[in-house]
This record gives sequence, C-alpha cells and structure tokens, in this order.
Amino acid sequence: MFHPFLLFNLNKNNIDMVSKKVEEALNRQILLEGESSQFYLSMASWAENQGYVGTAEFLYRHADEERQHMLKLVRYINERGGAAKIPAISEPPVEFEGLTKAFENLLKHEQKVTAEINGIVFTCLEEKDYTTHNFMQWYVSEQIEEEATARGILDRIKLTGSEKGGLYLFDRDLENLTGGSISVPNAGK
Ligand code: FEO
Repeated sequence: MFHPFLLFNLNKNNIDMVSKKVEEALNRQILLEGESSQFYLSMASWAENQGYVGTAEFLYRHADEERQHMLKLVRYINERGGAAKIPAISEPPVEFEGLTKAFENLLKHEQKVTAEINGIVFTCLEEKDYTTHNFMQWYVSEQIEEEATARGILDRIKLTGSEKGGLYLFDRDLENLTGGSISVPNAGK
C-alpha cells in the first residue's frame, strides 16, 4: 500500500514542471488578478454608497470573478510543480469621480491585464511551455469579453448622459448583466 506522502512525491517527480521564468510570470499575474478583485470591490462599495445598487451588484460579482481568476492561477502553478506566492495587495482607490470615470478606470485596468496576459503567452512560447500556453488561452478569451463589456458599459453611460431616468435604467440593466456585452440602444446609428 502506498503512503500518501510517497504518492505525492512520485507525482511531483513525474510532472512536467513549469520553468522559473513561467512560474515568475504566473505569480506576477496572481498579484494583478488579486489587485483587480480589490479594485472592483472598492468600486462596488463606492457605487453602493452613491445609490447605484445595480452597478454595485455587477461590481461585487465581478470582484468575485477576479478572485476566481487568481485562484485558478494559484492551483495551476502548484499543480505544475511550482510554488504559488500569495502577495500583499496595495490599497485600491476609494473615491471615483463618477460612473464615467469609474468605468474608464476599469477599462484602462483591463487593458493593462490584457497586455500582461499577452506577455505571459509570449513567454510560454519562448520557453516552449505549450501546456501553460494552452492554459492561458482561457485568460485570452476572458480578456476579450471583459474589454468588450467595459466598452459597452461606457458607450451606454455616454448615451445616457446625466439624465436621471436613463441612469436608473442603466443601473437596473447592469444588475442583471452576468457577462458579455450590455445593450447599447442606437449605438453606432
Ligand atoms: Fe481577470 Fe479582469 O482580469
């Protein structure tokens, strides 16, 4: 009968381990996803206090999703024989000048995340790590969706302007948005 510890060591020795370079790149991404989660959580709390209940719900959900993105990386690094590091996360902004500014910041943040993910994909190819390259494709697709969602929301805010009825509908729609793009009436027409 195998001792569980022996079995664990056998597994560690048999796996195709990540290189140091890939491990470091993935660990940097853990930090970025953790920062994203805190950033959205802070935005959610701000939105809730401003009375944008639907926007807050959307952002609370999004903060949870970002935490899942971080967790997925932690589990993957360890599974591939590396060591995932749980980093300290700097304090996110607490004040946002308004919905437009908040979502402009969100889009900028997602664009930064996309650039980092593309960097990891490049490192995977340099290191001939096709397993991690394959793993990262999920993040590549996710980023396309997240950027499209952020752009859709910004377009909708711009069309709505500061008109109260429009903002109410915008906020209500956002509450039910679970991913993909928000509908932008008459956009581009
Ligand atoms: Fe996980 Fe929004 O990047």
